[in-house]
Amino acid sequence: MSALRAAVFEPPAPVEAEPERDCPFCPRLVAFREHWRAAEPDWHNAPVPSFGPVDGRLLIVGLAPGLRGANRTGRPFTGDYAGELLYSTLIKFGFATGVFEARSDDSLKLADSRLTNAVRCVPPENKPTTDEMRNCRPFLAATIGLLPSLSAIVALGKIAHDQVLAAHGEKLSRYKFAHGAVHRLGEVVLFDSYHCSRYNTNTGVLTTPMFHAVFAKVRAHLDSLG
Ligand code: URA
Repeated sequence: MSALRAAVFEPPAPVEAEPERDCPFCPRLVAFREHWRAAEPDWHNAPVPSFGPVDGRLLIVGLAPGLRGANRTGRPFTGDYAGELLYSTLIKFGFATGVFEARSDDSLKLADSRLTNAVRCVPPENKPTTDEMRNCRPFLAATIGLLPSLSAIVALGKIAHDQVLAAHGEKLSRYKFAHGAVHRLGEVVLFDSYHCSRYNTNTGVLTTPMFHAVFAKVRAHLDSLG
């Protein structure tokens, strides 16, 4: 196989919504995963599956698992700094119940919502490449396609926003990413937020009130549908 083909390995369509444990499509991510499987055999170290009921109306799309967070625990945003703000916000706005204890076996449950990542495997330095995003996109498209009641999507960051648009077959240039922006994609409304990463919150790019304001809009939108 040429180097180019190895880097841009298109998965056969149609794909399942969740990649298999040894998903082979991104050589760099496979090598990273193998490294961490050897170093930390008790960690999840595999594609992190989506979390939450499939009959929910809301889908939240993050970037990719954090090395010592979701990649360790096996649940999106669990054990990541970003999960503290995300899950407390989901509880506040009625999209989660229970107690978040940063463990995949805590009592937290998502309500009317599902959480996934644009890229399912942990990338070195939290930075997936363009090819890796493209390789993983069919899983995002299948995840979206699996939700019969989907009415709203929250994109956490511009990468998630772009991947959601691409998964819908939409032109990126028609929908500009901005924190608090709202876009209609047919039956589904896309809400943009800055990613709730430690970097964004520590630098003040994203404050808790700014993040809450996005979910307040989502709540109002879903409540208006009855
Ligand atoms: N953890 C995740 O699962 N996704 C992110 O985007 C960030 C942290």
